[in-house]
Amino acid sequence: MPETKLNLQPEPRARVRAMKEYHPPLGCRDALRLDFNENTLACSPAVGQVVASISTGALTRYHEREPVETKVAQHLGLAAEQVVLTNGVDEAIHVLFEAFLDTADELLLPVPTYTMYEVYASATEARVVSVQAGDDLRLPMEKLLDAITPRTKIVAIANPNSPAGTVITRAQIEEIARHAPQAIVLVDEAYFHFHGETVVDLIGAVPNLMVARTFSKAYGLAGLRVGVLVGTKESMRWVRRVLSPYSVNSVALACLPAALDDTSYLDWYVGEVRAAKAEFEAALDAESVRRWPSSANFVLVEIGAGHAEFVRRMNAAGVLVRDRSNDQGCNGCVRITIGTREQMTRATAALKQAMNTLRNSGESK
Ligand SMILES: Cc1ncc(COP(=O)(O)O)c(C=O)c1O
Repeated sequence: MPETKLNLQPEPRARVRAMKEYHPPLGCRDALRLDFNENTLACSPAVGQVVASISTGALTRYHEREPVETKVAQHLGLAAEQVVLTNGVDEAIHVLFEAFLDTADELLLPVPTYTMYEVYASATEARVVSVQAGDDLRLPMEKLLDAITPRTKIVAIANPNSPAGTVITRAQIEEIARHAPQAIVLVDEAYFHFHGETVVDLIGAVPNLMVARTFSKAYGLAGLRVGVLVGTKESMRWVRRVLSPYSVNSVALACLPAALDDTSYLDWYVGEVRAAKAEFEAALDAESVRRWPSSANFVLVEIGAGHAEFVRRMNAAGVLVRDRSNDQGCNGCVRITIGTREQMTRATAALKQAMNTLRNSGESK
């Protein structure tokens, strides 16, 4: 028997060793949270009632996901077999990549985009192929189509995209799907409610299309961790194979029907954010702060060299915003989530003060 070294730690796969650690800046968030694109207020009160009614006995049981999947499927106009509930869209991305990305496959990503696509892909044996957006941060359609190869296995598109809130059209999504018939085109509609346009109705008609939706944003359930992935029955069967049957917890499953049914709360929140966004964008324009047109509940602004100081000053004023300067093509940029009108009035006052200070110290561009 070969001699074994004491205290030798088993090594993870080479790809995992090469992965960058990802630490979202989640500490000390007892302030106005305009940094993670969450609902900034609360979920529906009907969800609160469900949470209050859950008994300790109910928590002892393993739970069934399927009845709630059926309800979500009805809500989306799909068959239950076309719908998989996941522990947030993050898990949907994770299991999808695990199920489909093989050695030498390519994940095609228009960048900048949501960070976790690259994080989860880097744990697989696939290669990430990025196509960089231009100054408008819109999806570079021609470059994307040119980058499709026989190895392209998944094209991941957030629509609206993060960090700028830019969108692509239904016709563009169909064109991408046509150009890459061997690939899954994943359309991540995390911010659907603020945009109002979807391609869920194309599921089945476009055989390689999948759509993800989250309950973390407009519904205000980020802490419960629920997302949904939809596609053809066949593709969802593969996803189910690698998914834990219990990854969506029983509290989340109990709450989901109430969240779905309370459409008036959802409509109110989305209306409030839209109104607040219009006012906030007008304030940004008055301050001559460059912004990108956004169809989501956030706005990307260009602060320039003083971006880190701007974030610090906003934080000191009790308003958390997110520095996106390290995103590809976003040098000097900060992303600001839109909350309610009352919250954005506070944010606007903090922004004006931070900009004044930066201008006086010569740190803005
Ligand atoms: C585009 C996009 N997709 C997915 C997510 C994550 O959603 P979930 O909370 O359901 O994992 C986010 C969160 O910021 C996002 O911006």
